[in-house]
Amino acid sequence: HHGWPGLIHRYADYLPVTEKTPVVTLHEGNTPLIPAIALSAKISSQTGRQVKVLLKFDGLNPTGSFKDRGMTMAISKAKEAGAKAVICASTGNTSAAAAAYAKRGGLKAFVLIPDGKIALGKLSQALIYGAEVIAVEGNFDQALTIVRQMADHYPITLVNSLNPYRLEGQKTAAFEVVEVLGDAPDWLCIPMGNAGNISAYWMGFNQYHAIGKAKKLPRMMGFQSSGAAPLVTGEVFEHPETIASAIRIGNPANWDKANAVRTESGGEFHSITDTEILEAYTFLAAEEGVFCEPASAASVAGLLKVSDQIPNGATVVCVLTGNGLKDPDNAIANASAKFHQGVAPELASVAKVMGF
Ligand code: F0G
Repeated sequence: HHGWPGLIHRYADYLPVTEKTPVVTLHEGNTPLIPAIALSAKISSQTGRQVKVLLKFDGLNPTGSFKDRGMTMAISKAKEAGAKAVICASTGNTSAAAAAYAKRGGLKAFVLIPDGKIALGKLSQALIYGAEVIAVEGNFDQALTIVRQMADHYPITLVNSLNPYRLEGQKTAAFEVVEVLGDAPDWLCIPMGNAGNISAYWMGFNQYHAIGKAKKLPRMMGFQSSGAAPLVTGEVFEHPETIASAIRIGNPANWDKANAVRTESGGEFHSITDTEILEAYTFLAAEEGVFCEPASAASVAGLLKVSDQIPNGATVVCVLTGNGLKDPDNAIANASAKFHQGVAPELASVAKVMGF
């Protein structure tokens, strides 16, 4: 191989694959762990404690989200099993990843999305990668119920995070974090929708801990928007609402797993408001130079909310699950930059609006 081979080849020893598995890859994984200089300084000055925050920017995967880690596994294993078609329900990112990896593996992809409720970049991805897109007049939870029934009744493989291979692939993000830090962080802050990703990270940290690659295990800190916070309140949200459309989920598929992660890791789940999410989102872009999507910024909004609990000297990793380019509408609506429109194409006009 030249360069990074993709996560299945890199971590084959830790994944349920054999030499016979037809690896479908876009060379996903190996995403950067970026020191959050401005955020660390902000929290240190607020709390008076030294805190080192790093951003695991999984929005830099081939289709722009962490879903690629799960999808390379799910599609490779579906192909190995002889599947011809896959299906998922999605708030957008899973549909983009399923569409891309299915196409690359020669499988047909069907994706159900909540009509009018997914970010523009994600819709454009599902379409351009050639999935068959079915927009249902309902929310994600309703779409998930339907695709589960579809997979039960028809010869089609479910690639939502109920598919165990998805979490196997996603756990590799924890491996990468441990390899960079030389150990697990003290805290892992992460947004939760279906709670597949928090469950996958916990699997990964535990696996590396069991073989001595990590000496400690992190507290798993999971965050949801207050309008879609079933894991925080313990109640299904019949009508979940949040600006962070990726995590607009009222009845998470991995509910029991998430509760086990919280208990085992001594972690906590909290909700933050959409306003707090958008503040973290614009802060990351404008102060840190890191452009993630709103749902991803829930990890940072959550960290800021509970920052008074961070121990002195702690290392904290915030997972940024998706790329900001996925959701141009929210970026334009929330940016505070000066934007001069309709400027005449001449030096004097440009100099004038620039204040010279
Ligand atoms: N962040 C982003 C950007 C997501 O797209 C998702 C889930 C999550 C966080 C939450 O991850 O569900 O494993 O707890 N997106 C799914 C989708 C639901 O269809 O793309 P989770």
